[in-house]
Amino acid sequence: MNWWFGGLNAAPDRAAALASYRALAARYDASCRLIEHLRLVAIDALALQPGETVYDVACGTGAVLPVLAQRVGADGRVIGIEQSPDMAERAAGRFAGSALPPNVTLLIAGVEEAQPSALADALLFCYTHDILQSPRALDNLLAHARPGARVAVLGLRLLPWWWGAPINLWKLWRGRHYRTTSRGLREPWALIASRLEALQVQRFFHLGTSYLAVGRVA
Ligand SMILES: C[S@@+](CC[C@H](N)C(=O)[O-])C[C@H]1O[C@@H](n2cnc3c(N)ncnc32)[C@H](O)[C@@H]1O
Repeated sequence: MNWWFGGLNAAPDRAAALASYRALAARYDASCRLIEHLRLVAIDALALQPGETVYDVACGTGAVLPVLAQRVGADGRVIGIEQSPDMAERAAGRFAGSALPPNVTLLIAGVEEAQPSALADALLFCYTHDILQSPRALDNLLAHARPGARVAVLGLRLLPWWWGAPINLWKLWRGRHYRTTSRGLREPWALIASRLEALQVQRFFHLGTSYLAVGRVA
């Protein structure tokens, strides 16, 4: 029952996340069909320019690494950060010939400790609930961002319980292997919002159970 009771107050749990994503990696992409177009909306919100550096925070299997690489061009940089070697292996194999293009770097590390080699002009968080609940992770990432860097956060949130209870229960159960804490799921953006100049929840999708929030580093 950790997905429901315990998970509502638990801190993110790295060992549990690594074990979950080891089991999920092979079928992860197939399980994400419904959110593929939302990731592109989040990328559009970053308004990436050629030559910029973008972090794909917790890039998972690297579904959007090729799009990001194309948006920042040969003179830009995409830095995917991912702690699960099983997910990162798939990200690395996503490119033709299985070699990363020169403008893409994959850091296999927790975002709490990752030391990207270039400052970010933009940061993408797609379905990274555990990270959004970790002050250490956010502080480390934002310490590597340029002032004014754009931030787009796409993810799942819970609906008001008084009318959304059945949908919430379904979402909690459905996503139980994809996060290790359910803390903050009503307003998952709250912690990062307190660290940014202005984070606005711009849009909701899927009956309001997914959100896109966009802001800037102070
Ligand atoms: C739901 S997946 C999202 C993956 C990808 N962003 C996407 O849109 O498909 C969450 C990812 O976050 C990674 N993750 C969780 N906690 C992390 C941390 N502290 N540091 C780095 N990666 C983390 C997991 O290994 C997993 O690949």
